[in-house]
Amino acid sequence: MKEQRYAGLFIAGTDTGVGKTFVTAGLAAALREEGLKAGVWKPVMSGALANEVGSDAYRLHSISGVEDLPEEIAPLVFPEPLTPLLAARAAGQELTMEQVLRGGKILKERHHYLLVEGAGGLAVPLTETEMMIDVAVQLGLPLLLVARSGLGTINHTLLSIWYAREKGVPVAGVILNEAKTDHTDDASIATNARLIERYGEIPVWGKVPRLKESLSRQQLVAFMRQHVNLAAIRSELEAQMIGGEGS
Ligand SMILES: Nc1ncnc2c1ncn2[C@@H]1O[C@H](COP(=O)(O)OP(=O)(O)OP(=O)(O)O)[C@@H](O)[C@H]1O
Ligand SMILES: [Mg+2]
Repeated sequence: MKEQRYAGLFIAGTDTGVGKTFVTAGLAAALREEGLKAGVWKPVMSGALANEVGSDAYRLHSISGVEDLPEEIAPLVFPEPLTPLLAARAAGQELTMEQVLRGGKILKERHHYLLVEGAGGLAVPLTETEMMIDVAVQLGLPLLLVARSGLGTINHTLLSIWYAREKGVPVAGVILNEAKTDHTDDASIATNARLIERYGEIPVWGKVPRLKESLSRQQLVAFMRQHVNLAAIRSELEAQMIGGEGS
């Protein structure tokens, strides 16, 4: 049977802990509030169990407001906090790309739009011959790159953009997120977006500050609207549907 057409973004990070889950879940909540019913998918998750409070799958489920269960959002889960290649081996398995892609079948059938969260950064070993970026290659989705907002982010962001391009994966946009390791008094925060746009030839779709308190979904949606260019993200997703890039 032919797969339903879908559009999406592969949410990649410049590193682990930069805020991919935070941004993916917040964006999905905001897009869904506007009527664009995006689903979320974490193809490989390591370091936690799907239903564990605080795991990526649990947060993607509870924050975004999707009905899919955490174990549907993250169908391949390995408890060891290691790169997917080694986390799978620690669980006695040899990961294959086919297995990773098969895990998204149900979500692709349910959703026209999918935000797919990678694990760690782009050059993260998945199999003996494939990296995390190869999942984006196989899915045919452009990247939304989440990066830290402070000092050091220009280097990490440009290297990730150039690596993706070398692999033939377009990068649609960047979101700079004030991650836990960023310092609020960092003077570079004011200029990093401009330099990334210039040298990366890419739009920065948002500068997300650090939240000091937990918010309700409605408050988080308002927060995302305030700090992220949702219209640009919607246009990217809708253009994929019209242009037939989603498969
Ligand atoms: N803007 C923010 N405001 C407040 N907390 C944030 C923000 N961004 C990220 N965090 C918190 O920082 C931690 C790391 O973020 P997150 O889990 O989203 O990173 P990640 O890139 O998805 O990591 P992983 O590689 O493990 O998937 C989480 O506890 C998250 O809630
Ligand atoms: Mg995450």
